[in-house]
Amino acid sequence: MENKKIPWWQPRVEREDYEFIKQALDANFINEGPLAERLEKEIASFLDAKYAVATTSGTIAIFLSLKAVGIGYGDEVIVPDATFIATANAVELTGAKPILVDINPNTLTISVDAIKKAVTPKTKAIIPVHVTGRGADMEKIMEIAKKQNLFVIEDAAEALGSKHSAKGGSASGGKEKYLGTWGDTGCFSFAANKTLATGQGGMIVTNSDEIFNRLRPLKDQGRFVRGTGGDDAHNTIGYNFRLTDLQAAVGLGQFAHLKERLARMKRNYKLYAENLKDIKEIKIFPSTDEETPQWTDIITNKRDELEKYLREKNIDCRKYWHPIHRQPPYKLPDDNFPVSTELLPKSLWLPSAFTLTDEDVLRVCEEIKKFFL
Ligand SMILES: Cc1ncc(COP(=O)(O)O)c(C=O)c1O
Repeated sequence: MENKKIPWWQPRVEREDYEFIKQALDANFINEGPLAERLEKEIASFLDAKYAVATTSGTIAIFLSLKAVGIGYGDEVIVPDATFIATANAVELTGAKPILVDINPNTLTISVDAIKKAVTPKTKAIIPVHVTGRGADMEKIMEIAKKQNLFVIEDAAEALGSKHSAKGGSASGGKEKYLGTWGDTGCFSFAANKTLATGQGGMIVTNSDEIFNRLRPLKDQGRFVRGTGGDDAHNTIGYNFRLTDLQAAVGLGQFAHLKERLARMKRNYKLYAENLKDIKEIKIFPSTDEETPQWTDIITNKRDELEKYLREKNIDCRKYWHPIHRQPPYKLPDDNFPVSTELLPKSLWLPSAFTLTDEDVLRVCEEIKKFFL
């Protein structure tokens, strides 16, 4: 028992996944069809968004969102230095330039002051990233966007089911909304390490009729309505970024378990927060009641030693990304990114799968205590 492997994360295929896949196979329709549409409806209704548009990945959800609001060559898009590199790559794919900015040390999400300094006449959009389900400061970001006439494309790849309140929180009458529904669009990922995992997959949500009317043809060869595939009308340029019904089937089966998965992830975080609070060598980020930490993260000066120690105990963690400005395609001097340069090499995700039990999480806490005490 002591040596049971504790994964950092693992997806889980549910009984319902098999039933939905059988439905797709029995219907002999495995391209994007009724099941993808059903998944779109479920996600839109769950998040209280007007529209959801399924696509092939979170990266492409961001790319399509940027294209849908008309971003391309010559434009600048503000992106945090602490994110999975996909966020910047999606901007590159449109031909626009990602402008990296530093992060807030208390949340590891995009710094509002850094956004203000980075805006130029070429800036067209901001992409706040809700790192590990922690909301970027959406109220202030929306204010800046309104004042400067910028689009806001939320990278909510890690934030499905996480909510965020405007100042004062819901208790004091502030607005509480799901992350991904604050900006012009919200982009979700169904990659294997996310709460819903369809192999690859993504979803865009929006409340804008105009953006929705651009997204559909953009992901389907410029068609709004799919006909025979022969004499269809292709009124604009589009691509093939459709999710198949086979993938949607897996998403639908797991969607039936979304609430219990979110509850378990919150429980993982709570156990870590309670049990690690007295270890002064560790900083664990605060999480509001509305937020669901996709993965629980800590900061420690002994990050690499701790990760190695836990691995030897059969406990897997995940080191944070390198700051994007240190990756070869986006190389920039450290000077403009003091926070991400200092904090990301100290940041670690603890085992956070929704498949973990209390016993698993407590075993991780015990080993961390042994390491530090
Ligand atoms: C913050 C963030 N943005 C974007 C992505 C890209 O999503 P995908 O892998 O589905 O393309 C991911 C996850 O992989 C992510 O964690």
